[in-house]
Amino acid sequence: MRILSIETSCDDTAITIFEAKGGIENASFKILANNSNSQIKIHRPHGGVFPALAKREHIKNLPIILEKSLKEALGHPMSKWTSDVPSIDIIVVASGPGLEPSLWSGVVFAKELAEKWDIPLMPVNHMEGHILSVFGKGVGKFKIKKLKMPILSLLVSGGHTELVLTRKWLKYEIIGQTLDDAVGEAFDKVARMLGLPYPGGPEISKLAEKLRKIRYSHEGSIAQADEPSIAIHQQVNMRAGSGRIPDFSLPRPMLHSKNFDFSFSGLKTAVLYLIRDLSKEHSNILQNDKIKSAVALEFENAAIESLTYKTKKAIEKYKVKTLIVAGGVSANNHLRNEMKRLIKEMSNKNTTAKAGQVKLLFPPKELTMDNSIMIGIAGYLNYIKNKKKVPEINSIKAEGNLKLK
Ligand code: KG4
Ligand code: ZN
Repeated sequence: MRILSIETSCDDTAITIFEAKGGIENASFKILANNSNSQIKIHRPHGGVFPALAKREHIKNLPIILEKSLKEALGHPMSKWTSDVPSIDIIVVASGPGLEPSLWSGVVFAKELAEKWDIPLMPVNHMEGHILSVFGKGVGKFKIKKLKMPILSLLVSGGHTELVLTRKWLKYEIIGQTLDDAVGEAFDKVARMLGLPYPGGPEISKLAEKLRKIRYSHEGSIAQADEPSIAIHQQVNMRAGSGRIPDFSLPRPMLHSKNFDFSFSGLKTAVLYLIRDLSKEHSNILQNDKIKSAVALEFENAAIESLTYKTKKAIEKYKVKTLIVAGGVSANNHLRNEMKRLIKEMSNKNTTAKAGQVKLLFPPKELTMDNSIMIGIAGYLNYIKNKKKVPEINSIKAEGNLKLK
């Protein structure tokens, strides 16, 4: 079966065409074409995604990307306007969650194609796409593998921070989420305070990583997940090259709450105050790479510690057998290392009763950010699950707050 998938939930316009076959637990995919356009450069001057601009860019780029993808996949030129119908069996579109103006541009475009070509249209949840991105590859062929239940998915992106439990394949229960900012949003906002460009996550991570190598020759920070009180505070002033790097600590949000929710706005405000205090002692902080690195490192440690701690508690409570960490922030090396360390430590202690090892899965780095490969996977699996039934086309709409279920 041939699938055409469309993703426009934020600032990436993406289309993939696949060949797919098999059932919901053993489906296999072959990518025939995969094209996208990132709007980062356009939004950068605004310090974040500007919804009206994003919509305009999606509308402009979708027909171009479609044409390119059809040509690559089918071997002959075709566009939205030509009268022949391409050999596509189903169109899939991310209908939420995300920025509504962005989502609508993809949904409207998908509906036009579906009606013109008389092809079924399947709307999918973007977050389900992030979960299923762990099976994908940027090119070539890949397969869905059967995973042991329950599965816990930690979804970390610019718009979401959620812990999602799967007891039955393709069914989702949100057991914890952020009460305010998403973790990626906090990375972006802190980066902005440090004068770093949008998107700030990779910038913070780069700065933090340099200093982390100098400060922690042996990273013992999983202990922090067990004992929040002994976090980074005990680090003494260190030297990196010449000049003193100031020592400070930031709060670890929500470590003492009994639920699986997160909160990052307090941490973000703490960074704002920290920068204000540091500015009293040091002139021109935004030109001072050592201070910026120290803030980035401490912020990254605090944010990731909060994610790791809640994930650990959820694994224990629900006797989780598979852990998936996905979404834009799952590209973060420190998060990946801390999750690996956590799973190793839990397996050694055998805290998950007889379960033994918890299997840990990340998407390949190229599929951590928004993409249409993950949307196509989610679309195909749901199409098969629903016995090839799709919703009535007029009922399909973009939903900025669409929830996983
Ligand atoms: O999933 P995604 O591409 O889009 C949303 O659905 O939001 O995630 C984008 C987010 C941005 O906030 C970006 O700063 C963050 O992921 N991000 C990172 C890293 N790479 C991207 N955050 C921390 N470390 C990274 N290496
Ligand atoms: Zn996303």
